Amino acid sequence: MALQKTDKIWHKGKLIRWEDATVHVMAHVIHYGSSVFEGVRCYAPPSGPAIFRAQEHIQRLLDSAKIYRMDVGFGCEELVTAMTDLVRANGIWPCYLRPIAFRGYGDAGVTPVNCPVEVYVVNYPWGKYLTQDDSGVDVCVSSWTRIAPNTLPALAKAGANYMNSQLIRMEATTNGYAEGIALDANGYVSEGSGENVFIVRNGVLQTAPLGNSVLPGITRDSILKLARDLGIPVAEAGIPREMLYIADEAFFTGTAAEVTPIRSVDRIPVGKGDVGPITRALQREFFGIVHGTQPDRFHWLTPVPVGSKQPVGV
Ligand SMILES: Cc1ncc(COP(=O)(O)O)c(C=O)c1O
Repeated sequence: MALQKTDKIWHKGKLIRWEDATVHVMAHVIHYGSSVFEGVRCYAPPSGPAIFRAQEHIQRLLDSAKIYRMDVGFGCEELVTAMTDLVRANGIWPCYLRPIAFRGYGDAGVTPVNCPVEVYVVNYPWGKYLTQDDSGVDVCVSSWTRIAPNTLPALAKAGANYMNSQLIRMEATTNGYAEGIALDANGYVSEGSGENVFIVRNGVLQTAPLGNSVLPGITRDSILKLARDLGIPVAEAGIPREMLYIADEAFFTGTAAEVTPIRSVDRIPVGKGDVGPITRALQREFFGIVHGTQPDRFHWLTPVPVGSKQPVGV
């Protein structure tokens, strides 16, 4: 989806013009991939704009930065406020938010010496990801392995990890699939290029544990909480590749993908090839909460105080 420019970008406590949010070609991040970032959705329930799991996203950003010894210089509440301030200032919702911290311009070389950590938050309109089709997506198992333990840390949402994601996704789309599912270094199901994976088999909802090179997805966590709340048995356990072929249901979760059913893997239909009952029940709960047709019983939405302001068209 084409990036739609907005008016302002948050940079270290100030709202600057979109055009002024630039980086020098010798910034550390450009050469060595030294960024950590988040992808967050702001929804538009009838009560007004509301950011989904804002604190959890910012906490993950701070965790990613900590793993990489990066001092962001702002705390969780300050960055949550940065997001609400930006949504209000730009007058754009629903939208996608992209907080990012990276090592800027300093000395040359891999060791980040004198490279200030830059922090920005950007927001822009964004619709559905992967498909517009409610019946789900056709995916493949990638020939690329997900980043192995103790190479690039999978728990960190770091820019560099997305080199691996790009290989997975480019291969999948080149071969006519919506997305690829990568296996981990031991051959167990890991995740999509930008989504966690769930399957249902004999009534049990299963997803890969965090040790199988997956990002600790905020949507993954939300679905696990919803499933437990609905009394659906849940297992976080290693999933062999072939389980994808004999699963009754499968779906992706992610901020971008939300809850997207998987209708086939490697051209083998998942279950009957339609959206199964557990996937539907979880979709109903998830979308009900974010779109405000159900109470926010887990307190997942951070309201953006906009008064009577209406969103602007972009
Ligand atoms: C590699 C990867 N896995 C999983 C996810 C899902 O995480 P979340 O639900 O927090 O968006 C994402 C998206 O951020 C991702 O990029």
